[in-house]
Amino acid sequence: MKRLYTDELQAGMIVARTVMGTEGRTLITRNTELTANHINKLVELGIASVFVKDNLIDIEAPDLVSDMVLANVSSNLKNSLNAFSSGKELEMTALRKSVNLLIDEVVLNRNILIQKEEIRSHDDYLFFHPINVSIYAIMTGLTLGYPESNIVDLGLGALLHDIGMFTIDRSIINNPGALNQQEMDAIREHPAAGFNILRNYRELSTTSAHIAYQHHERVDGAGYPRGLLGKEIVEYAKITAVADTFDAVISDHPYRKAYSTTDGLTVLKGLQNTYFDPEIVDAFITNIAPYPIGSLIRLNDGFIAVVTAANRFNMTRPVIEIITDKHGNPIKTNLTVDLQQNGKIKIGGRLNKQEAADILEGMSRAKEDDMPGNINEAGLYKSGRNFAKG
Ligand SMILES: [Fe+2]
Repeated sequence: MKRLYTDELQAGMIVARTVMGTEGRTLITRNTELTANHINKLVELGIASVFVKDNLIDIEAPDLVSDMVLANVSSNLKNSLNAFSSGKELEMTALRKSVNLLIDEVVLNRNILIQKEEIRSHDDYLFFHPINVSIYAIMTGLTLGYPESNIVDLGLGALLHDIGMFTIDRSIINNPGALNQQEMDAIREHPAAGFNILRNYRELSTTSAHIAYQHHERVDGAGYPRGLLGKEIVEYAKITAVADTFDAVISDHPYRKAYSTTDGLTVLKGLQNTYFDPEIVDAFITNIAPYPIGSLIRLNDGFIAVVTAANRFNMTRPVIEIITDKHGNPIKTNLTVDLQQNGKIKIGGRLNKQEAADILEGMSRAKEDDMPGNINEAGLYKSGRNFAKG
């Protein structure tokens, strides 16, 4: 599976992951063969990229939250936010139902790590970001052992953490360039504005409303609006701060390309103690795969492998399939190794996007019959408890 920007798509390609529009509607389902019409439609709708199948590495990461639930939640949120921007009340009962749906899915799929590196267009981001933040917050709350009613409060507050942005001039929010001081000051009003909106809803706990107020506070006091210190910040807001930052870092923006989840985790770890509560970061990262399914990694002896499955409780030791020898030549025989069972093999690091693209291109050039890689050099992998897939 590979991700292509919409203008790189060609008729005949097979969609590997369901494409959803901003309204939460399914646009094209998984396994559909693309036609020229589909592609035109995607361009028209401003969909930035689509996952398509390739014959080289086709590994599907399991969904933490199903497309159906995501579609349901996103259409609920969209309706509620549209109504809110036209002066109506937030439909808190419907939103609470949505959060309950998310919780049910996350609880059901508790053993699935976040594997996805979704890259969305800017417009999609503004809309899907709160849902992602809510999902991350729910997972973290479960890891911290919160009772269910607290998880609902946390998930709902996280979903609405940026509601204060609706009070800010659209021209500032949509400005892709650098903001001047006055515009920055306006943006910094959104936490207090959000708190003032949410505190009026009886259906929402005051602590949930504080998520909106405090999600830009940092434990060292460097945050805003009040420069609170760690012990003064409510835990829901600390969780949402980590979730908000992580999702922002791994998403595409007009001013910056997305980081990989691997790099996103490094960013979080680098900011614990200064920005984030280290206990919250620890709880958060136990749910994120450092090497997502489908990512390419370099082993310490130079072999390249693709990650094919996660080990939930040993996340840095996934199941891999060796795809090149130590010289970068594609290997014909698939060789699967569970790193949890094989302590000798070390991961040297994850390939960046360009390196991964180069390897995949090399693989597509090498025909099945004359894959030049030297399998005999893979002795280390064949010995011990490794097994070839056959
Ligand atoms: Fe915010």
